[in-house]
Amino acid sequence: MFRDTSMDYLTKEERSEILKKNQQLTDEEFLAMDDTEFRARVRERGHHTLEIQVYHAAYRNKKLNPDQADYAKRLLRLWEQKGLSKDLPEYRYVSFLIDSADKLARGEAVDLTPYKPVPVTKEMEDNFFTIVKERRSVREFKDIDVPDEVIDKVLEAGLWAAHGCNIQSIRYVVVREKNEPGLFKGADVPGGPVHLVILQDMRCYRANSFTPLRNRLLDAGAAGQNIVLAAHAAGLEGVWLTFPNEEFCERLRKKFNLPDYIRLVTYVDVGYGDQTPHPPLRLDVKDAILGRF
Ligand SMILES: Cc1cc2nc3c(=O)[nH]c(=O)nc-3n(C[C@H](O)[C@H](O)[C@H](O)COP(=O)(O)O)c2cc1C
Repeated sequence: MFRDTSMDYLTKEERSEILKKNQQLTDEEFLAMDDTEFRARVRERGHHTLEIQVYHAAYRNKKLNPDQADYAKRLLRLWEQKGLSKDLPEYRYVSFLIDSADKLARGEAVDLTPYKPVPVTKEMEDNFFTIVKERRSVREFKDIDVPDEVIDKVLEAGLWAAHGCNIQSIRYVVVREKNEPGLFKGADVPGGPVHLVILQDMRCYRANSFTPLRNRLLDAGAAGQNIVLAAHAAGLEGVWLTFPNEEFCERLRKKFNLPDYIRLVTYVDVGYGDQTPHPPLRLDVKDAILGRF
C-alpha cells in the first residue's frame, strides 16, 4: 500500500531515517527508481541545490562554489543512463541551471534578460482583474462540445501554477459526461459537460518527504485556481466541485484504473456556460486584513 508520508505524521526517528536515506541514495537505487519519482527528484534537487543559489548569485554578482552543481550533474548523468529523453523539461531546465552555476563559479556573468516577462501594460492589468472578478461559478451549460484544444489549454494553465519545491505532482483525468453518463452522480449539482479531475501522483513527494500535508493539498489548490481562471479566460465557464464521499472517489478510481499512488484531490466542471449569476459579493479587503504592521 502506498504510504502518504509527510512531515505531519512522521515520527522524529522516521524523519531522520528518511533524510539519511535520501542523502545516501546510490547510483543503483537511482537507476532502479521509477521514472516519475526520479524526474521529481531532479526537479526538487534542481530547485533546492541550484535554482535559488544561481539567481541569488547572478543578481548580486557573487561567485558560486565550483562544486555547487555536482549533485545535479550526477543526476543528469544518471538521467542519460536511464535513457530518458533530453527534451524533457526538467532535463532542459536543470541543464540551464548547471551551465549558469558553472559560469558563476568561473566569475562570469549570467544573462537573465532573455527571460524578462513581457511588460504588463495597463490594459493587461485591467484584463487580468476583470478575469479574476468576473469568473463565476456557473452550474448550467449549453449543449455545445468543448474542443480538446481548449481543454488542454486550460489544463496547461493548471500545470503552470506555483508548486511547492517544483515537485510537479499534478495529473488529470478528463471525462466528457456524454461518454460516461452518470459517473459523477452524487455531487450536489448535475455538473458540466466536461469533468476535469485533478489528481496528484504521490510518488513525486518521495523527492521531499518533508513536504507538509498542507503544501501537498495547496499544490492541487493552486492548480485548481489557475484552471477556473483559465477556463473563464478561454471562453468557458464552470464550477469547482467537491467529491461528496469516498465511495464516489472509489468509483472514479476503479473506472480509470488508478493505482493507489494517484490521489484524487478535487474536480472542476466546465463547458459553455448558460447562466449569469449575480457575483457573490466579497468582503471588503479592509475587513479581511486582520493586521498591518
Ligand atoms: C474547494 C471548493 C469546493 C467547492 N465545492 C462546490 C460544490 O461542491 N458545489 C458547488 O455548487 N460549488 C462548489 N464550489 C464553488 C463555490 O460555491 C463558489 O466558488 C463560491 O460560492 C463563490 O462563488 P463564485 O465562484 O461564483 O465567485 C466550490 C469551490 C471551491 C473552491
